[in-house]
Amino acid sequence: MRESTIEMPLQLAVHTLSGITGALARDGYAIVPNFLDNTTCAALAAEGQRQIDAGLLKMAGVGQGEEHSLRREIRSDHILWLDDGNSAPLQRQYLALLEAYRQEVNRQLFIGLFEFEGHLALYPPGSFYKRHLDRFRDDDRRTVTAILYLNDDWKEENGGQLRFYPNGEKSSEYIDVLPEAGTFVTFLSHNYWHEVMPGNRERMSLTGWFKRR
Ligand code: OGA
Ligand code: MN
Repeated sequence: MRESTIEMPLQLAVHTLSGITGALARDGYAIVPNFLDNTTCAALAAEGQRQIDAGLLKMAGVGQGEEHSLRREIRSDHILWLDDGNSAPLQRQYLALLEAYRQEVNRQLFIGLFEFEGHLALYPPGSFYKRHLDRFRDDDRRTVTAILYLNDDWKEENGGQLRFYPNGEKSSEYIDVLPEAGTFVTFLSHNYWHEVMPGNRERMSLTGWFKRR
């Protein structure tokens, strides 16, 4: 595929960023189907699949620093951190799009996000991530979560939903989001409990967090 055919959708999507940021400011979260088009998502999925096939992903852990540990009863996905050395060309374009989102969030919400950390995540069939908040006990810098799903033609019977609790932990109300290619989910990291339900298909996403200083 020529570069020009895949760059365009990433640029077009920038025009929707201020609307998404408006929803984040108003509601604390936004769930956005078709954030990126199918062609771009298929190319991002192929890129991720090559990294998976190359054996670059590792079991994900819980916590960070001295508290970091593998807790397979809590989460069982595999990840590859997308820093400059690790990321592939289209992933870098996606990171550039997230940089535009970061600036728009700072402009509208006045929260001074200064960097992004994120990873490619693979949930093999049967894997899950139990209900949690995206903030470490000993580090409150993660402020806004951003997730892009890369799974073409995901069906309800495939499971693997993001179960999102829009009204706090105690509430029994939740929104189930299918990890369909192109769906983008963003929320204030410390406010919303969420979990990944076990699925019966490989489930791929680009997941990360904008941090405050
Ligand atoms: C996470 C997470 C949700 C998802 O990685 O912290 O909650 O749907 N992921 O992949
Ligand atoms: Mn999470």
